[in-house]
This record gives sequence, structure tokens and C-alpha cells, in this order.
Amino acid sequence: MQILQLQDITYVYNQGKENALTALNGINLEIERGALLAIVGESGSGKSTLLHVMGGLDVPIAGEVIYNGEKLNYKNSDWLAQYRNKEVGFVLQDFGLLLSETVLENVCVPLLFSKGSFIEMKRKAKDALKLVGIDDLASRKVGQLSGGQKQRVAIARALVNNPNIILADEPTGALDSKTSLEIVSILIDLNKQGKTVIIVTHDLSIAQRCQRMVTIADGEIV
Ligand SMILES: Nc1ncnc2c1ncn2[C@@H]1O[C@H](COP(=O)(O)OP(=O)(O)O)[C@@H](O)[C@H]1O
Ligand SMILES: [Mg+2]
Repeated sequence: MQILQLQDITYVYNQGKENALTALNGINLEIERGALLAIVGESGSGKSTLLHVMGGLDVPIAGEVIYNGEKLNYKNSDWLAQYRNKEVGFVLQDFGLLLSETVLENVCVPLLFSKGSFIEMKRKAKDALKLVGIDDLASRKVGQLSGGQKQRVAIARALVNNPNIILADEPTGALDSKTSLEIVSILIDLNKQGKTVIIVTHDLSIAQRCQRMVTIADGEIV
């Protein structure tokens, strides 16, 4: 069963303007539930755009994104918000964390959009922190953490709503090689626990640890 299907996806920045740029050009990709997929390609080839389209953050000008057999419903903002918040979790190279807030507060952010008591929120956040091995850091300010610890916080935040898909955009780009290995191991473990994990990376040694590798060049799969 495919969890995500991309059919003839085209994405254009600044559409209709002089500086229009086709970042994705007719992408077709089928991703099986439980897959561990690496997306590689040179800088500017369209990897981040592809991940944003998968996560419902960018809307393609043509083509379909199909999640669990259902087309992403761009016209229904509630449906789309639910998809972005509950079905996928994003992990970014620069972490995208609130540095002056605590670890626990950062992990709670995706929960602020749903109902639930404060106690329940805290419990979910703690569970996510346990999964990445830093529940002992819950009350620390994120600004005081190392890069590897920050990335664990970002992964916990991506996990807190228990999404089916983890989308990681160069998650080790800002980390040294030893810490990169630890972070990749966490992502691989999450895959073993059943998550579909998609990792954009420059690092071929990381890509080789994935079941499958897709290369993108100039907005096309090669
Ligand atoms: N916000 C934007 N506005 C205009 N062009 C963009 C924007 N973001 C990315 N691009 C362009 O789209 C292409 C693909 O970018 P991107 O998906 O970020 O590539 P990658 O992640 O592989 O480096 C590049 O040519 C880039 O310059
Ligand atoms: Mg990128």
C-alpha cells in the first residue's frame, strides 16, 4: 500500500512573473507505507520544494499528491491544516526551534492547535522526548543545548502528534559527523517502529543506509 503518491507534480516559484522558476518538473514518485527513503541531489535541484509539496506546505501548479489514497484537499484549509499537523512531521537542518523557550515548550508547539488538557500535552511531549532520549532535558532552555540535542528536540516536536510520515530536510547539515550518525540512527529507529521516513541529504553515507534512494536534478527524478 502506498502512503504517498506524487503524480506529475510541477511547482513554479513566482508563477506568471518574469522571474518564474520551475523547481519541480513532472515528478512521479510512489512511496510505500513504512519506507525509508533518501532524496539526494545538488543544491538547488528541488529537494526542499519536493518535501514541502509532500508535506502540504507548497501547492503544486499541476499534478496530484495522494495520501493514503486520498488527494490532498488544497481547497479545504481545515483538512490541509490537519494533514500538516497530524499526518506529517517536519525536521529541518536549522532546527526551527524557539531558542528562548524550554525543550518541553518547544515540543508542545504542534499540540497547541488541538484540544487537550495541559497535563495531556505535557505527557505527550515527555513521551516524544523519551523516544529521542532527552526527557531529562525537558526544562532546559533550547538556546543552551548542543546542535545534536537541538536536533533531538526538533525530532521530538515532529513526533509529538504521532504522525505517519517524518520529512527530514538535511537534518544533519549543521552537525558534526559523530552527531550526524546519532541523529540518523534515531530516524532509522523510528522507521523500524513503523514510521515512513523521508530524508533529504547531501551525504551519500546517510543515503546508503536507507532502503531506497531517489536522485533529483533540475526538478526531475533521474
Ligand atoms: N522562495 C523561493 N523563491 C524563488 N525561487 C526559489 C525559492 N525557493 C527555492 N527556489 C528555487 O527553486 C529551486 C529549487 O530549490 P530547492 O527546492 O530549495 O532546492 P534544494 O533543496 O535541492 O537545494 C532553486 O533554483 C531555488 O533557487
Ligand atoms: Mg534544500
